[in-house]
Amino acid sequence: MHVRRFDGSSALVAAAVRHVRACAECAVRARGEFLLVLSGGSTPKPVYEALSRVRGFPWAATHVFFGDERVVPPADAASNFRMVNEALLAHVPIDPARIHRMAGEADPMSAASAYDALLRATLGAGAAFDLTLLGMGDDGHIASIFPGSPLIHGEGAASGFGGQRALAPGHDHAFAAAVRAPSGQPRITLTPAALRQSRVTSVLVSGAGKASMLREVLTGPVDPTQRPAQLLRQWPGRVTWFVDRDAAVRLP
Ligand code: 6PG
Repeated sequence: MHVRRFDGSSALVAAAVRHVRACAECAVRARGEFLLVLSGGSTPKPVYEALSRVRGFPWAATHVFFGDERVVPPADAASNFRMVNEALLAHVPIDPARIHRMAGEADPMSAASAYDALLRATLGAGAAFDLTLLGMGDDGHIASIFPGSPLIHGEGAASGFGGQRALAPGHDHAFAAAVRAPSGQPRITLTPAALRQSRVTSVLVSGAGKASMLREVLTGPVDPTQRPAQLLRQWPGRVTWFVDRDAAVRLP
């Protein structure tokens, strides 16, 4: 894992945009397309806004996937799709057929099952995402994989949808699941089995509220049940942390 520290948010945003662009160009050169997974949350929003202004980005060769979604319609203020669309997708020349949003307006189990099938078709033949952007919650969650989630140990299969139980659409190692956040809010999330299939994973972390957890995640004993972001310490691909000064204040 590689940690990149930045003095301010504009430096972090500029570096993250350069990084996304470099990953895109590299993927398109090597394989003719760029499979990008985007996170919700507030930290990546300025990165998306800046990315929307980059000239010459290979949007025609880009597929966009989502790391997680709230169970709300796409126009809802809480929708990750809405945030990403308003900050980025509505402003760039991407074919709408290449924007693979999670159906937050649908029954969450059916939506997770449909997304699982999509990813199974995309990743099934040994393919991988080229870049996954993640944020990290103060409690160490990534995407909607929260502390204590059964998804952390691959226990996707469950008969119901409640608490932190998760849906596996009929097989082990589901790629998407319906879950509930600790607040009780229903969500759809990629599972670790899907997220780990990324050539590059970049985590954007800013703010003093993340400082203690970031230290635990990067330097503490590995216990992803308590700190899901520690799953990244076991990821096979390249993992880079983009961290601002406030979030990095407790790092050695
Ligand atoms: C979401 C997420 C979630 C987010 C973290 C960090 O939809 O909320 O995908 O995992 O990345 O909660 O969020 P912030 O960037 O807002 O701190």
